[in-house]
This record gives sequence, C-alpha cells and structure tokens, in this order.
Amino acid sequence: MLWLPALIIWASVSHSCGSDLQFPSWFKFGAASAAFQVEGAWNVSDKGEGKWDRLIHRYPEMITDGSNADVACNSYYLWERDIEMAAELGLQFYRFSISWPRLLPTGFANNISEDGKNYYNKLIDGLLEKGIEPIVTIYHWDMPQMFQDLGGWANPKISDWFAEYARVVYSLYGDRVKNWITINEPLVDCDFYYGEVLAAKQEHFVGPYMCNKNVLLSHAKAYHVYDQEFRPKYKGKVSLANHLVWLKPYSNSTEDQELAEAARQFLTGRYTHAVFSKEGGWPSVVEEAVAKASKEQGYQDTRLPPFTQEEIELIRGTYDYFAMNHYTTRLVRKPRSSEEIVRSLFTYVEDLDAVLEMDPSWPVGYTWYTAVYPEGIREQIAWLKQQYGNVEILITENGYSTGGSNLDDDARISYVNDYLEQVLLSIEEGVNVTGYTYWTIMDNFEWTDGYNSKFGLYEVDFSVPERTRTPRKSAQYYAQLIKKRSL
Ligand code: BGC
Repeated sequence: MLWLPALIIWASVSHSCGSDLQFPSWFKFGAASAAFQVEGAWNVSDKGEGKWDRLIHRYPEMITDGSNADVACNSYYLWERDIEMAAELGLQFYRFSISWPRLLPTGFANNISEDGKNYYNKLIDGLLEKGIEPIVTIYHWDMPQMFQDLGGWANPKISDWFAEYARVVYSLYGDRVKNWITINEPLVDCDFYYGEVLAAKQEHFVGPYMCNKNVLLSHAKAYHVYDQEFRPKYKGKVSLANHLVWLKPYSNSTEDQELAEAARQFLTGRYTHAVFSKEGGWPSVVEEAVAKASKEQGYQDTRLPPFTQEEIELIRGTYDYFAMNHYTTRLVRKPRSSEEIVRSLFTYVEDLDAVLEMDPSWPVGYTWYTAVYPEGIREQIAWLKQQYGNVEILITENGYSTGGSNLDDDARISYVNDYLEQVLLSIEEGVNVTGYTYWTIMDNFEWTDGYNSKFGLYEVDFSVPERTRTPRKSAQYYAQLIKKRSL
C-alpha cells in the first residue's frame, strides 16, 4: 500500500547526466541514517534519556521549527519499511546508528535493555535477509544524559564507559556486523556542542578541546576492544567518521595558503592526526597556536590538554580505513580590520583567528552551511592521501538538502552526480576510495533545524501518524545509478 504511489513516480522519471563513467566492480553504494534522527520512541520501554532529548525538551526555542525528535520518522516501529526502502534503492549497505541510551538505559554496561537489543537485532537480520550489509555507527551524538550530567566527553572516565558500551555492541551484533564506526563526527559533537550549544560554553575553547582529547581516547579504546577480543573471530573493520569541510585559500598568496593548511589541521587534523598520522598526537601547528593564544589571554597553561606518550601510542593507528563525511567547502582568510566576526563552526577557526567563508559563486542548498563545490570532494580526498598515505577511504556521508515538500528534486540529483563524478576522477588518480554513502535515506530530524531541512531520497510526511515515506525523483536516480554502476 505504502509503495503504490511510489511506483507511479518511479516509472515517470528518466534523468540522464550525460556521462558514462563506470564505477569499479568493488565500489559500494549505500545510504545512511542515525538513531536520534529517525527512531522516535524517545521514552518507550526502558530507554534512557539522551543529551539531545534533554536539550530539546528544555530549550525548544533552540530548534528552528520548535519541533522535537520524540517521534521523528518513527523508525522504532517502521523499521520494516526502512529495510524495504533500502532494498528498493538497491543499496549494497545501509549505515545506521545504535542509540546508547536505548541499548544501555543508564549508559553503563551492567544493564542491557531487552527491547533495545531486540530492535537492533531485527534491523540487522532484516537487512541481511535482503542482502544489504549493515554498517553500524556505535555513537551518533546521543550521549546518555546521566553521563552528560557528569561532563560527557569532557569527563576522562568517559573513554572507559564508551569502551564498555562498545564491547556490549560487538558481543551482541559482531557475528553479523563486519563494519563499525565508533563515533560520528566528533568535530560537531565537540566543537559545536561544547563550543556553541552548552550553557556552560566559555569565552575561549576549553570544553571542545577536552572533548576532543577524550573522544579520541574513547575511539581508541573501543578500537582495541574490537582488535583484541572480536577481530580474531569476526574479522571486521573499525574506524571513526570525521566531518571534513574542504578548506581552500582565499587567494594564492603564500600567507593564505599557509593559513588554509593550518585551518585544515585545526578542523580536520585535530580529529585525525592522532589516529592516522605516523607520529600521532596533536598536529604541531595546533599545539603551537593554542599555546600562544592561551598565553596571550592570560591562562597559566595551554587550553589544549596534552597527550602523554602512552596516550599517543594508544590512539595512533587505530583504524582499518578512513570514514569521511563531506558536504561542503570554505575559503580561508584572516579577518579584515574592524570586521565583525561570527564565531561558529563553518565561519571561524578558534585560536587560529581565521575566517571561513563561501565563495559567492557557489550555490547553497536549503541548509545554510551547504555551499556546493563538487571539486572540493576530490581536493579533499587528494589531501587525505598526501597526509596519511594510500589509506582506504569510504565516503560515509554526502548529501544535499531541500526545503518544503518537493518530490522533483533535480538539484539533489545534480549534486550527487557532480560529487560522484569527482569521486570517479579521484579513483582514476589512484586514490583508494571504495564506496559512497548518501545522507540520508529519508527526511529526518535535522538537529537544530528540526524538520525544515530535508536531505532525504525519500520524503517523509511528518504531519501524519503513519510517517508515510515517498520516493523522490532522486531515489529513482540513485537506484538506477546503483544498478548501472555509472553516471
Ligand atoms: C551529520 C548528520 C546530519 C547531516 C546533515 C552530518 O554532519 O552526521 O547527522 O544530519 O550532517 O546536516
């Protein structure tokens, strides 16, 4: 019944992008979602409260449309339809996340929810029955509130609690899940959440850097748990997914080029250098800049918490591939004299005093930060290879947002086509990119933008209890692309 209108739309669309570049046989296509953004059922059964539940319920004004994620796409109940959509698209894999407070209501590993456990079992088994590989993110921003009350990622104990949670997840699902992402986009969870959202935000970055260090330790400990206890029998892969904004110099001047490279180390390197570089630890340019700024601001010590040698060794090399989320690009420059600075992720690099801005010629999706510059993905990938060698790269998110009800989403089709064309060129240039994940399979709760920004291949009707999912034109385009394996 749900699928009937979909079939009609399906048959009437034919979009050709005029290129017949072929993807290699080993290249995989998927789509993604995240627990908090789709599941709903926020307090069903014994589920614990997560930090976004608390935030939204307490400060509804923070969400642009005043909505919440209490029901969201209702995927806690509609998971069979979600699997059906993944099958309709012909996905080779579906990336979703596990809600920490759903599986472990208190956050601690000594209390596993039966209902939570069964929900993810059904989802994983249902996908496998359709021949779709589950790629599972262990944490996509839904920190148990009990831990958040203790500082969340800013509390040094969190790395042990996270490793215990990861152990539960591997032991429950590791027999069937072979690809794990420990943590999604620590840049956003640390820099945005601790730098902009939390009431306790400071004048200068303190919380974001504490979070940054502990998130890396948490990832590393979870990686080692898999490596030592599960890899021998399950032979899977583990990484963490980073949000990479490609940063270009504002001009060709040496000053701007150096600034852009330093900004890359701030926005990306702070979350990748410790894991993927040969030497590990913080990028030196970050260490130096934060120490200098902290001194000038009158702090006794640098605000960047140092790593011990033991911690550097613990984190270094804890990856089996590079998971890259990429949406957009920025130009980097120094602030102009008397310029009014907006201090936020995507507009300003703290402690480097660098401004990030869009090139006015780039189109922008509905979501304010999503300037479209397809070449950016290829330049970003080339930089990764230059920094970290010929590591396998899986694109774990890339997508485009529209606003309002809109099934004819040609702009989304062009975005995917143009970005994938650049990915193909990267492969031709010899970079080891092995797959692409569209964000997102269906419209969902877009954090502080509520249900306004729509990234979905499927439109979701949030005004009806059924949360009807209808494929957009882009869903057909993506299904055809996966089938033909060419643009
Ligand atoms: C996040 C998603 C989010 C998407 C679109 C990514 O940064 O992982 O949760 O919905 O961007 O803004």
